[in-house]
Amino acid sequence: MSYFDTNHSFYKELVNIRHHIHRHPELSNEEFETTKFLKSKLTDWGVRIAPTSLPTGVIAEIGDAAKGPVIALRADIDALPILEKTNLSYASVNEGKMHACGHDFHQTSLLGAAYLLKQQEEELKGLVRLIFQPAEENHQGGKAVIAAGHLQNVEKIIGFHNHPGYPTGTIALVEGGIMAAVDQFMVKVKGIGSHAADPHLGVDTIVTMTAMIQQVQSIVSRNTNPRDPLVVSVTHVEAGNTWNVLPDEGFFEGTIRSFSKEARAHAVKRFYEIVENVAKAYGSKVEIEWLEGPNVTYNHPELTSKVFQHSQTFTNVVEATPSNAGEDFAAFQEKIPGVFAFIGSNGDENAPGWHHSDFLVKDEGLPTAVNYYVENAKYLLTEN
Ligand code: NI
Repeated sequence: MSYFDTNHSFYKELVNIRHHIHRHPELSNEEFETTKFLKSKLTDWGVRIAPTSLPTGVIAEIGDAAKGPVIALRADIDALPILEKTNLSYASVNEGKMHACGHDFHQTSLLGAAYLLKQQEEELKGLVRLIFQPAEENHQGGKAVIAAGHLQNVEKIIGFHNHPGYPTGTIALVEGGIMAAVDQFMVKVKGIGSHAADPHLGVDTIVTMTAMIQQVQSIVSRNTNPRDPLVVSVTHVEAGNTWNVLPDEGFFEGTIRSFSKEARAHAVKRFYEIVENVAKAYGSKVEIEWLEGPNVTYNHPELTSKVFQHSQTFTNVVEATPSNAGEDFAAFQEKIPGVFAFIGSNGDENAPGWHHSDFLVKDEGLPTAVNYYVENAKYLLTEN
């Protein structure tokens, strides 16, 4: 009987593990119970836990660096501040917190891989470092793992995200950008308030803001090569509180998503130019606050092509359509060659997407995700 036969005790345990983790979600940097749980499973299975200065997250190792290279497998472990509405028997018991991005599925898959790789430890031609990464959702964890020294000596790294758009049993990969670079902007506009009947006595904040919001759309339509994907979204606008007063200040915020350094840099530059000059033209003052999120999740072309081909030896592999969401796995790929895949977790095109309160992943996706780690880890230790 295969480990992934639905009656096999290993598969049943994996499903139980995922349901346990799903039931007990913790937010970014607060994954203390999750960390304890992961450590206890790894310790039960005899997997070495590496020392770390990280308050949450687990670094474990299997194999021997004297026998070959060091490669890393990464899964993220944090949840989101969302009230779960799935009605699952294993729904969150931590009210207002939910594994709505499926990181329960990711860490369970890496645990499963740890178990299987441990069974084959003597034959491994090098060292596999397992990174159970905290704080992906706030984009801090990847950088923290690197700052704590856990990428030291690692030659290659692989990771994945579940993807409800692909059926279980499918891996989707693409060379180059698979997830977008993320920028967040917050803009405060200061005009001069006045009676709504006497706009000439003030400086209209709302007219200034709407001009800015309209004009920044021209960054995509007029300033960027149409072959280089870019998104500019204003998502939150506030100004005024009644019908007969022109407010003296307002606020809007949003995000830019890009897939190349050039598009990103150009979009940021044009955003500042447009917003500052519109403010000037309308006589308002403006303050722009910028938060730089993860860079583009950039799949090393040669390594991705190899992982694509190797993955075809054990499952169905398709060319991925890149996502405009961001992913802090990008931090690792800036340091070393890395491959980030999508692994099918549903396959219904109407299935709720990431970060929805009724988001679901199917347990049936676990075998492919575990195999993705195990088979490609062994492959990466031996390929050059
Ligand atoms: Ni996620």
